Amino acid sequence: MAAPVVWKTPGEVRAWVKSVQLLGQRIALVPTMGFLHEGHLSLMREGGKRAEVVAASIFVNPTQFGPQEDLSTYPRDAAGDLRRCGSAGVFGVYMPEPSTVYPGGYQTYVNVEEVSQGLDGDKRPGHFRGVATVVAKLLALFRPDVALFGEKDYQQLQVITRLNADLELGAEIIGMPTIRETDGLAMSSRNSYLSPDERRRALGLSRGLFAAQKAAAAGEADVAKLLALIRTELVGVQAREDYVELVDARKLTPLTVLEKGTPARALVAAFMGKTRLIDNVAIQLG
Ligand code: PAF
Repeated sequence: MAAPVVWKTPGEVRAWVKSVQLLGQRIALVPTMGFLHEGHLSLMREGGKRAEVVAASIFVNPTQFGPQEDLSTYPRDAAGDLRRCGSAGVFGVYMPEPSTVYPGGYQTYVNVEEVSQGLDGDKRPGHFRGVATVVAKLLALFRPDVALFGEKDYQQLQVITRLNADLELGAEIIGMPTIRETDGLAMSSRNSYLSPDERRRALGLSRGLFAAQKAAAAGEADVAKLLALIRTELVGVQAREDYVELVDARKLTPLTVLEKGTPARALVAAFMGKTRLIDNVAIQLG
């Protein structure tokens, strides 16, 4: 596979987008923060099925990190990422500097109101404002026909779907299933922070979620009991809970009982040592 073209400025991207549009071709965009794993690559490959050309962005977006978070230590591997993009059929990768995206005097931010509240929105103040701002800028720049994101960041996917509709950016937003390691751990760039012991214990998150999913499918409608199943697993692996919630899958409002036919989602955020992990699964009352 050919090495992808690298764009560093919005002007370079705009010129490319114009040339693709002149040919009447469709663009798929996969925004990322790099340190790519199979989850990202699955989005790129899916993009290739839905559009003639696939573009990606690799940008560790400073505005979505809180002051105590891991911006400076976020894992990076530009050369490896470009190889992986090439192997997944990506034509070009936008890799701007922070000062290109947020030049001096920058003042414009996007705030998606309701779905940014609760869950990560409460635990990481300002996080979704940063995500919404950078994704709105990327969608406005690339004008993609489709943009693909992982369901692992489930609340982020709802925020992006809303902003794309509200700002009439015209992309089709595709949420793709979480890609897991063979033992069930959700793939994440942050898994690279885990020691071997933490990596083993991190399985408590997916085990708890799968236990709740199975119990709901077997007819358990009491949300408190389902949440207790997840918490038992977290306690068992000495993970520190940040939140455990069961919510309406679209509005993200907390539920107390499951109802047949109402799609729900169980979400967890927990610390393994210093590393904050998130995961979620669909919940359906059987
Ligand atoms: O999910 C991510 O990697 C980031 O939040 C995103 C969507 C690329 C915005 O920076």
